[in-house]
Amino acid sequence: MNISIIGSGYVGLVTGVCLSDAGHTVMCLDKDKGKIAKLNNGEIPIFEPGLGSLIQKNIGKKNLFFSSEIKSSLKESKVIFIAVGTPTSPDSDHADLSQIYSCAEEISNNLQDDCTIIIKSTVPVGTCDKVEEIISSKNSNKNFDVVSNPEFLREGSAINDFENPDRIIVGTTNKKSIDLIKDIYKRQIDKKYPIIFTSRKSSELIKYAGNSMLAMRIIFINEIADLCEKVGADVGDIAHGIGLDKRIGPHFLSAGPGFGGSCFPKDARALIESGKEYKAPQNLLKAVVDGNERRKSNLADRIINIVGAKKRVGILGVTFKANTDDMREAPSLSIIPKLLDNGISVSIYDPEAGQQEIEEFYGAEWKSDPYSVAENSDCLVILTEWDEFKELDLKKIKDIMSQPIIVDFRNIFSLNKMKDLNFEYHSVGRCTINTK
Ligand code: UGA
Repeated sequence: MNISIIGSGYVGLVTGVCLSDAGHTVMCLDKDKGKIAKLNNGEIPIFEPGLGSLIQKNIGKKNLFFSSEIKSSLKESKVIFIAVGTPTSPDSDHADLSQIYSCAEEISNNLQDDCTIIIKSTVPVGTCDKVEEIISSKNSNKNFDVVSNPEFLREGSAINDFENPDRIIVGTTNKKSIDLIKDIYKRQIDKKYPIIFTSRKSSELIKYAGNSMLAMRIIFINEIADLCEKVGADVGDIAHGIGLDKRIGPHFLSAGPGFGGSCFPKDARALIESGKEYKAPQNLLKAVVDGNERRKSNLADRIINIVGAKKRVGILGVTFKANTDDMREAPSLSIIPKLLDNGISVSIYDPEAGQQEIEEFYGAEWKSDPYSVAENSDCLVILTEWDEFKELDLKKIKDIMSQPIIVDFRNIFSLNKMKDLNFEYHSVGRCTINTK
């Protein structure tokens, strides 16, 4: 099948590459000519394990193409995915749908008869209806269908999530679109992954409700972690104990510095706004968003209380989680400036985050390996759970630090190990190991 995808960012690129690998002929479109030129030269604009080799493979098989000639491509397309960004608006908590509507305009000006437009971007309930209105206003004589098909790709494991999804959600009641979608996802359907057909509005809401539910679990376990620290319980044991209840399940119960990234924070805010718009307040979610913000600020205070002012703090990991170079709404963006404001000098190491970005943003010192960060620091703070940090030579770390204090907001080390090594060790939802 010939497929065009508008938007070659994270979602569009992964979707396009995986669909091309399934044997479809895919044209990935983006108005950013620089990005398209890089992709055509085999350069990958994002860090995503496995993506580069899959791009090379499918360019070689002539299944995958990149272009910024959007208009001419649309004129020849019968299947169009929209995968552009829907960030939080600059002046409100609503999703900014300007890119979605400009795609709808562009499609409406270049529409082929019998075209199916599939919205992959995360869009508030009712957006597909609006896209349909925009397109039909100029194309009353043509057949077309707008389908909702949200993505559930986690950064760092996006290819696996695409190929082995928990479910595929499709919002359409149009028989032709249903058959077409089944053809697009034949590889997943053959592997017996569930595909759910529902209304467009339900499909749009499933995406938001899913992300919001996961965000809620994280805030819940983080608050339980706070209580554990006060009473001497262990949040890992609590998560394990409750997760064995099949009604609860074990996932997304790792306590940490709060959720970040390009999805949970913006989607939670947008769902709260939809709730306001339709007079169905999302009170629980409001508490989740507020709790997440409070947590980041509290954790900065916790470091300051442990280490005191005018000290040197080394930060390991600034991305919002491991296996990504993405720093959008990462806890580090709130925590590190607060440390700097309190006169603490900060050095940073992250395996993937861009050095220039960090230096410009924080005015902090960038190091090229974790040991240089540890050297002469009074406290080492772990903000991202990179595997590389789990393998650190902690004896060496202890020798080169000014004071052997580790604050681990990802619980990557066991309490016994840190006790044996005689570190002062602070973690999340577990007792503190104190050498004094
Ligand atoms: C999330 C969803 O997991 C995907 O299903 C969804 O498709 C995607 O958003 C999206 O809407 O595009 P992602 O943002 O890549 O994916 O990140 P997650 O792995 O879900 O983690 C989100 C945040 O929660 C991170 O800051 C992470 O550190 C934190 N987290 C996650 C915890 O603090 N504890 C956990 O147990 C799990």
